[in-house]
Formats: sequence, structure tokens, C-alpha cells
Amino acid sequence: MDIQKIGIVGAGQMGNGIAHVMALAGYDVLLNDVSADALAKAMKTVTGNMDRQVSREKITAAERDAAMARITTTQTLSDLGQSDLVIEAATERETVKQAIFEDLIPHLKPTTILTSNTSSISITRLASRTDRPEKFMGFHFMNPVPVMQLVELIRGIATDKETYDACKAVVDRLGKTAASAEDFPAFIVNRILMPMINEAVYTLYEGVGNVESIDSSMKLGANHPMGPLELADFIGLDTCLAIMNVLHDGLADTKYRPCPLLTKYVEAGWLGRKTQRGFYDYR
Ligand code: CAA
Repeated sequence: MDIQKIGIVGAGQMGNGIAHVMALAGYDVLLNDVSADALAKAMKTVTGNMDRQVSREKITAAERDAAMARITTTQTLSDLGQSDLVIEAATERETVKQAIFEDLIPHLKPTTILTSNTSSISITRLASRTDRPEKFMGFHFMNPVPVMQLVELIRGIATDKETYDACKAVVDRLGKTAASAEDFPAFIVNRILMPMINEAVYTLYEGVGNVESIDSSMKLGANHPMGPLELADFIGLDTCLAIMNVLHDGLADTKYRPCPLLTKYVEAGWLGRKTQRGFYDYR
């Protein structure tokens, strides 16, 4: 299956990063969002990140210009109809994703592979509500997309080999590494990472350490590039809570119960870097 045109739904921090790496790898990218502001902001972010790569001599100015020329934006979802591969990277809410697939599917070619960048929602369930469960799978990037080496590829129960192989070939062309994960709650990375972050929040909640001591312990004591609370702010506390809820509900084990302090921060609208306030104050 020859993939050349890639449609991306959602121009947030994941969507713009995916557009960035796909365009640099030579794919034609159509980036969709309902909001014109989000699209403008995404293009500004991609430009800034590519400029930084040029200044650090990771890519040349000509490669940047060619990649930027391969990215087109649209507010009209049906424009993605001719894509060979669509990656949905919208808000991490099942109803939102489902509504996008419902609107998009009538416009897609029968051969289009449909994927979701979901960090935890069941691929099998999302796929079952589409017209092409065998051509549906999880395509999960890590943040920041241009830097992180891993892409999790998650097969739903019906995903066929041709679809998996085509997505794996895209990951290879990006120069990234694919990890194959079965479709169970939160897959591999978040199954392991989120309970650690949640435990760090419990450590704070129970007064075992303060924000700085918890983060420096894990940075200096376990060689993590970011402390768990700093990382939670980076990912978004709402996303962390949503993933803990998926683990708690899906695996029905109290060891995954979200820390009440995490819930409280989310209820306060303190979602981390994106709202300028989380465990740290960025204002
Ligand atoms: N685009 C392009 N390049 C970027 C970038 C971006 N958005 N962000 C950082 N970089 C580059 C920098 O230019 C720099 O490049 P050089 O090596 O050429 O200098 C390099 O990345 C390192 O960046 P910095 O020097 O600015 O900062 P740092 O050394 O502190 O690294 C970091 C920043 C890469 C984010 C590092 O702190 C890190 O790896 N943190 C952990 C990130 C992580 O765990 N991500 C996974 C989150 S979980 C997830 O995403 C799954 C989910 O579903 C929730």
C-alpha cells in the first residue's frame, strides 16, 4: 500500500508535531482543525520548531522550506477524503473522536487507513463504530513528537496485517521506532507511565515530599529527563486524569485509582503548562 497523502485531524500539540515529522519525511500533509486560530497557532509552532532544528543544524533551511510547503491546512473535514492515511489527534474524548469519524467516513476512499493517536481509548471499540475495522488502528506518538523516538502501533481485534504493515512502513520512513502493543487499557507506555505519575501525586498529597523534592528525586535518583510532576504538567493534568480513569475502569483494580489531588487540580482548571498553572506556576 503506497501512502503519500496524510490527513491529520486536530492541530493541537500532538497534531502539529505529527504534521511536522510527516512533512519532513516527505509526505503531503493536510492538517485539519475546526478552529482557524488553532491552525494558525499550529503553523507558527511548526515553523518555530523547524527553525530551531535549522539553527541546531539538524535539518537544512532547504529541507525546512520543502517540508513547510508540503503542509496545507483546512477547516473542512471532508477535504481529507483523498488521504491514504488519516491520523485523528483531536481531544482525548471518545464522543469527540466518534463524531469526527462519523463525519469523515462518507468522504474517505475505501482504501484509506484510519488511525487514532489516542493515548488510552480502546482501538477495538473506536474501530467497531467505523465502516472499516480491519483498516483501523492506533498510531500513538509521544510528546514532543519531533524529539521522541517511539511510536506505539496498536492493533484492534480486527486490524489486518496489510494495515499494520503500511503503518509500520510510515514509522520506519519517519526514522522512528515502532512498538507493537495489544489493545488493552492505555497500551504500554501509559500503562506504566501514568501510575508512576499518579503515585508521584500521591507522594505529594500524603506530604512525603514537596513538588521540588519529588521531581529532583526522580531526575537525579532515577535519571529521568523530567520529574514526574513536571512531566504531568507537560502532558496536561486532564490527560493524565483521563488515562488513570481509563485504567481504573478498564482494569477494575483499585491500584489505578486517580489521586484526589490530581482530580482537584483538574477541577480547578489547573491543567499544567497549557493553562499556565499546574504543579508549577508558569505565569
Ligand atoms: N520540536 C523540535 N525539537 C524540540 C522540541 C520540539 N517541540 N522540544 C525540544 N526539542 C529539541 C531541542 O531543540 C533540543 O535539541 P538539540 O538536542 O538539538 O539541542 C532537544 O530537543 C532537547 O531540548 P531542550 O534542550 O530544549 O530541553 P531538554 O534537554 O530539557 O529536553 C525534552 C526536553 C526532550 C522534552 C526532555 O525533557 C524529555 O525527554 N522529557 C520527557 C518527555 C517525555 O517523557 N515524553 C513522553 C510523554 S508521555 C506521552 O507523550 C504519551 C501520552 O500519551 C501522554
